[in-house]
Amino acid sequence: MVEFKYTEEHDAVKEAAREFANRELKPGVIERDSKMEYPTEQVKGMAEMGFLGMMTSEQYGGGGMDTLSYVIAMEEISKIDNSCSVIMSVNNSLVCWGLETYGNDAQKEKYLPKLATGEWIGAFCLSEPEAGSDATSQRTTAEDKGDHYILNGTKNWITNGGSSSVHLVIAQTDRDKGHRGINAFIVETDWEGVTIGGKEDKLGIRSSDTHTIMYNDVKVPKENRIGEDGFGFKFAMKTLSGGRIGIAAQALGIAAGAYELAVAYAQEREAFGKPIAKHQAIAFKLADMATEIEAARLLVHKAAILKDKGEDYVSAASMAKLYASQVAMKHTVEAVQVHGGYGFVKEYHVERLMRDAKITQIYEGTSEIQKMVISRNILKGQLY
Ligand code: CAA
Repeated sequence: MVEFKYTEEHDAVKEAAREFANRELKPGVIERDSKMEYPTEQVKGMAEMGFLGMMTSEQYGGGGMDTLSYVIAMEEISKIDNSCSVIMSVNNSLVCWGLETYGNDAQKEKYLPKLATGEWIGAFCLSEPEAGSDATSQRTTAEDKGDHYILNGTKNWITNGGSSSVHLVIAQTDRDKGHRGINAFIVETDWEGVTIGGKEDKLGIRSSDTHTIMYNDVKVPKENRIGEDGFGFKFAMKTLSGGRIGIAAQALGIAAGAYELAVAYAQEREAFGKPIAKHQAIAFKLADMATEIEAARLLVHKAAILKDKGEDYVSAASMAKLYASQVAMKHTVEAVQVHGGYGFVKEYHVERLMRDAKITQIYEGTSEIQKMVISRNILKGQLY
């Protein structure tokens, strides 16, 4: 049966995240964005609220919640501060979920309690200067030396690159084996040979710390490889499928945040003798926004529920990310338009959401990659 109502627990998560975002994240968000200032205190606050390890089991210090709770919280945080929500998303879905699902007991016991509580922040290091969408073309190598590997290479566009204590690094161990010659490793950032490059100056999500990372002869103990030899590419793909639900929720939050601002402004601002919301030109924009945002929300929630039920969610996650990111881009532009000149200045928040929206069409797989994933599954017989 399709259930269109949140449980009391989901309502409570939504309320807590909304209240936290307005109280703790909204003050200073414009300044942090302008100055590219990492939200240190705000990340601590998210950790205290349990937002950094929501889906991690309680035995490892997490919240033991379902994916639906996580996307509900992501939507609310993303209405206000997307530098914070991307930090939250990478730590929850790529790092903690990836480790808990595919790591062994020793790895989980060693790393998860620190990561799920936010004492440590994690990063997911897949993209390279010459391997973004084409993830099998890794140049980073990990040479098998018996009881350890020697890691060499450069990773680009790494979210949490400057603030993380742990990296999950994807590297080639045997080029001749194609994707089966790729492995994933847990690397601590204070190990010798790990160098953090400068912070990127970005269009949006400007206070999150995106860095290039260099690995130079880093000694990685064999027990830090995730899964069987050659599992790294599948680890990355499986983990990214879940990650895409988080980014879809971020895109949804961006769209919904801009919509809420547009509705409030349109009711308050008067032109030609009445609030602009009463002019059909604006009222119809609000109607389109509400309809498409609700459609995106249904896709995001469907992907989360399929994941929670243990069903195949690969296409659903890509559909949610593809559509929600399109809606975010389209309706943040519209929300700026509703605000007129005020929309173009930082004080009104919508221009930031418009800038933040673009990255949701790029990271954790571009829109084109999502279409590849969906169309390949259609050709395999998954018709929908
Ligand atoms: N789940 C499980 N297995 C999967 C899978 C998935 N979602 N996708 C692929 N696989 C498996 C395939 O079944 C195949 O296995 P077999 O050979 O055993 O059958 C294997 O992986 C190889 O698959 P493909 O031949 O389909 O691989 P491909 O080279 O054609 O690439 C792709 C597929 C979908 C394009 C993939 O490369 C991809 O998703 N690229 C985008 C990478 C990406 O999202 N990067 C984002 C960086 S991370 C980031 O942005 C984080 C951040 O900081 C915010």
